[in-house]
Amino acid sequence: MKKEQYSFAFEVYDSINDLSKEDGFLLQQAREITKIAYAPYSQFHVGAVARLSNGEIVKGTNLENASFPVSICAERSLLSSTAALFPDSNIDTMAISYHNQNGQSTEPVSPCGMCRQALLEHEKRYNRPIKLILGGSEGKVYVIEKSSLLLPLSFTGDDLRK
Ligand code: THU
Repeated sequence: MKKEQYSFAFEVYDSINDLSKEDGFLLQQAREITKIAYAPYSQFHVGAVARLSNGEIVKGTNLENASFPVSICAERSLLSSTAALFPDSNIDTMAISYHNQNGQSTEPVSPCGMCRQALLEHEKRYNRPIKLILGGSEGKVYVIEKSSLLLPLSFTGDDLRK
């Protein structure tokens, strides 16, 4: 028996002001779009904004449903829009923000497991990493160089051919 270990490094910034101009713009857009998230059941309003390889900016929010499992997260909503609008372009960077029922958030949150799997598929499809920028409506910001770092020992299309 031997033990394997997995770890990864990511950047932590004190605030949006310490990001590059491009990354700061994207996070600000993600903060803004949380205001139109449809989250009447959880009151957890999530916004995701992507910069594509063709320079386009695409936005998404979570979209809830009275039949709770029908709801979709902001990240997968954004992935769907991007695939339909710009199938020939990959996402270079995605910023994700949120606010709670009080309209506040001071800590970054990470994509849920299902969204991590969906982000991984996008990376595989285009063979390009998606950089993630995670932040609340204020406070520190995480920058993760590729979303697949969040999903070690992942299941992919390669496994279907084993
Ligand atoms: N949600 C997202 O939009 N993204 C995530 O990564 C985590 C959760 C949404 C789903 C649901 O509408 C609400 O947040 C509470 O789980």
